[in-house]
Amino acid sequence: MTSRAKVIAFANQKGGVAKTTTTLNLAAAFAEEGHRVLCVDMDPQGNLTMSQGIDPDSLERSMFDVLVHDLPIREVIRSREIDVACASIDLAGAELAMSMKIGRERSLQKALRAVEGDYDFICIDTPPSLGLLTINALTAAHKVIVPVQCEYLSMRGLIQLQNTLSMIRENLNPDVDIEGILPTLVDTRTIHAKEAIEILEENFGDRVFASRIKKTVRFAEAPVRGMSVLKYDPDGMAAQSYRDLAKEVLSNGQR
Ligand SMILES: Nc1ncnc2c1ncn2[C@@H]1O[C@H](COP(=O)(O)OP(=O)(O)OP(=O)(O)O)[C@@H](O)[C@H]1O
Ligand SMILES: [Mg+2]
Repeated sequence: MTSRAKVIAFANQKGGVAKTTTTLNLAAAFAEEGHRVLCVDMDPQGNLTMSQGIDPDSLERSMFDVLVHDLPIREVIRSREIDVACASIDLAGAELAMSMKIGRERSLQKALRAVEGDYDFICIDTPPSLGLLTINALTAAHKVIVPVQCEYLSMRGLIQLQNTLSMIRENLNPDVDIEGILPTLVDTRTIHAKEAIEILEENFGDRVFASRIKKTVRFAEAPVRGMSVLKYDPDGMAAQSYRDLAKEVLSNGQR
């Protein structure tokens, strides 16, 4: 029997909390450990695609065609540091185009079946909303990693995400669960950040990862070069923080 990939969705309907950064860099850290990794870009912004140096405007076919026209996902995968199933702005029309489709919430899950034997991990980046693209990701996933920026307002959004996950469990994917909540963009100099992490831990206990991702300009610099932070600055603490996160996820083991 061939083994199947562990599928992890990275979700938070709040924008700019490091979903894409976490998807790419955790994926790169898995790859460093010798795992076979596919990243799926489910965001019309195409940030994940771009951060591996691929121009979304140059793509003839993308995740739009996979989701809407059942194009085999292999046809939109490009090999870089990790494999990327690419997205471009046309994905913005996918929610409407899929709305007439029977099984519209399962398009991604279905597409991934063809490649789940080829990878150890499939990491899905989602847009900052809880629409049909994110629902497809949560339906295809075994686990969800939730990056949160450590400030009070972000905490409210977590409740909303949990409600969506309950609905997904009831109707579409009974076993999906949160792998962990990841504090990102942590500014260790501020009391506010410390307090926000404390509140997070009070409310979500050991669901909060021990790893924390600190604020550093390396994360903005790396995508401009089309690289993960692990490749751009391999010895830096930014890279190390995602290696630590990878160890934490790998040691959690079972799906
Ligand atoms: N730890 C960090 N320190 C400093 N900047 C960071 C860090 N992580 C991410 N960034 C930067 O913050 C911005 C937002 O990150 P990212 O694009 O990963 O968030 P996102 O949640 O995917 O956003 P969106 O909701 O728009 O998809 C980017 O410019 C990124 O380079
Ligand atoms: Mg993003």
